[in-house]
Amino acid sequence: MTAHERILLATTGWNPGAWLQVFRRECPDRQTVTEPDGPADPSIRYAVVWKHAPGSLARLPNLRAIFSLGAGVDHVYLDPALPDVPVIRIVSADLTMRMTEYVVWQVLDHARQGPAYRAQQQQRKWRELPQPAAASLTVGIMGLGVLGTDAAGKLGNIGFRIAGWSRNEKRIAGIACHHGAAGLDAFLGESDIVVVLLPLTVETRGIIDASLVARMKRPTPLGGPVLINAGRGGLQVESDILTALDDGTLMAASLDVFENEPLAAESRLWTHPRVTLTPHIAATSDPARLVPELLREMENLERGRPVKGLVNGRAGY
Ligand SMILES: NC(=O)c1ccc[n+]([C@@H]2O[C@H](COP(=O)([O-])OP(=O)(O)OC[C@H]3O[C@@H](n4cnc5c(N)ncnc54)[C@H](OP(=O)(O)O)[C@@H]3O)[C@@H](O)[C@H]2O)c1
Repeated sequence: MTAHERILLATTGWNPGAWLQVFRRECPDRQTVTEPDGPADPSIRYAVVWKHAPGSLARLPNLRAIFSLGAGVDHVYLDPALPDVPVIRIVSADLTMRMTEYVVWQVLDHARQGPAYRAQQQQRKWRELPQPAAASLTVGIMGLGVLGTDAAGKLGNIGFRIAGWSRNEKRIAGIACHHGAAGLDAFLGESDIVVVLLPLTVETRGIIDASLVARMKRPTPLGGPVLINAGRGGLQVESDILTALDDGTLMAASLDVFENEPLAAESRLWTHPRVTLTPHIAATSDPARLVPELLREMENLERGRPVKGLVNGRAGY
């Protein structure tokens, strides 16, 4: 990339300030801008985006690639006029470790009866609950990609049995791997805690619904199946999850992502006693850690070297 070629930073809902500052520090010899000089600005070489305005990249004549500021790219494909250039997502040890921390935190919280003990504490109740050992629980990971595989490894090291579900067939040491629609029931039938780390695509939208919850394992050592979703809110049908929690089909849920974000103040999920809720923070994108990696990916692309985060446009992830 030459000095007169520019990087466009296009974000909605995120303040671009911190990203701009790091781009300008790490890449001082070329400009990073938040607005092109008109819809057909010839100087824009790369677009780095988080929920960019649909149609805004369509006429940039020299755009070489679109970089997502997150690991997911569902927000990129919301643009019906997306130009036909490579889409590249974040694949970063920093982001992966943050997600693994979240998953291990939530799995251990449920395995160690965290929600029940917090409720007892409110009532000043001193009562010991059954405590299954990690080795007697199976954690099922829906989505055995970069994030799911790392979380699976760390949970396995703690002693949990691990099952996994992916689109394509896989063989991974220490994981009972299942794949495709045909493998879903077997996967659900052996998972005491289901962790969702799927991308949001045409195939996966709404997959966590009443039918899936009804097929989850029961009985389980925790009194019923537990759901943890840190993938995307569009994967879940919140009304079905609430019904399943109310009637006991689902024992408990940890949700980091929601159908509409921020979650509406009137949602019953906020106050449900068996829901742990976080505001889409499972793995935040840190500009200081991720901008140098994005710049390295741009250089790899320019030099014809392998690019880690290259997205399969047809699969949508
Ligand atoms: N909450 C947060 O803060 C946060 C942060 C970062 C990322 N995320 C979410 O986490 C997702 C996963 O990230 P990643 O880097 O692990 O993605 P990835 O490496 O692309 O892995 C995706 C996994 O999902 C599987 N999959 C995709 N479609 C499927 C289908 N129809 N049926 C069964 N399995 C399917 C893939 O199967 P194959 O292996 O067979 O291809 C793969 O194992 C992202 O897309 C993003 O939405 C959330």
